[in-house]
Amino acid sequence: MPEMMDCRETRDPASAGSSDLGLDLLLRQLHKELGLNLKQYKPNYLKRRIGVRMRATGCADYLQYRQYLKQHPDEGGRLINDLTINVTEFFRDREVYEAIRQAVLPEVISYKRGSGMWSLRAWSAGCATGEEPYSLAILIMDALVREGDRPRWAVRITATDLDDKALEKARGARYESVSILPGLETEDYLAPVEGGYAVREEVRRMVRFLLLDIAKPPPLRHLDIILCRNVLIYFEREKQSHIMEIFHRCLRPGGFLVLGKSEAIVGAAQRGFVPFRRRERIYRKKE
Ligand SMILES: C[S@@+](CC[C@H](N)C(=O)[O-])C[C@H]1O[C@@H](n2cnc3c(N)ncnc32)[C@H](O)[C@@H]1O
Repeated sequence: MPEMMDCRETRDPASAGSSDLGLDLLLRQLHKELGLNLKQYKPNYLKRRIGVRMRATGCADYLQYRQYLKQHPDEGGRLINDLTINVTEFFRDREVYEAIRQAVLPEVISYKRGSGMWSLRAWSAGCATGEEPYSLAILIMDALVREGDRPRWAVRITATDLDDKALEKARGARYESVSILPGLETEDYLAPVEGGYAVREEVRRMVRFLLLDIAKPPPLRHLDIILCRNVLIYFEREKQSHIMEIFHRCLRPGGFLVLGKSEAIVGAAQRGFVPFRRRERIYRKKE
């Protein structure tokens, strides 16, 4: 039986394994084995996150960590979990959700009704544990109920992430604490259960969760709204620009793109969008 590697025994930080070449070889191995192109992330972010796993496994350099990954098939999944930071909450950055409630949804609903299309389609890209797509579903449900014709509408929010553990929690739809926007009653959308709340069936049914790398084009077209918040900050500019082009293709003309508070449209896609609410980072695809 081949001897299992114990990274904790040999430490030589000055070895070739600590170099960019060592990192490059590691990234190629991960791409081949996990099918994930980690080169799309910012190098410093990658080094920091991989460093966390290297310390946890006692590996002194990238070459040792490559070896460790070969011998411990579960480690790839742990690394992905570490790379994907899932911080999120219901109605994160309230002013953005207020703008969606007061400005975006009335536009979308009136456009769709005017063209006789009783469907509303959205994508939450990098949805983490589900709070973001459920928050959007709650606002859509509230708007349609107020309009008095909720039963006529077909609503589909596709929520995607790379982290299968986060998606498992999202599908479970149970949360310890929830804080929603003023004017909405929590219990209309979430039922109190032991230890917290469970998203009510009518809200859950609007959202489907998929494991998907954001850099790969999804099977989505003619979307009304895309939310991609606090995800692109981890990506290299070139990759951000590639992802913006994916968003542009997936939206219908006049469709809305909502980014995070410290994110902006970059690259060639800038020409295809106009700002709708600058402060809240909401853009529209040009007609
Ligand atoms: C900080 S959370 C943002 C969650 C939510 N959008 C929000 O703003 O509250 C970032 C999410 O992006 C996901 N992510 C990172 N890289 C990704 C990729 N290549 N494809 C899909 N999701 C990714 C992570 O797994 C994580 O759940």
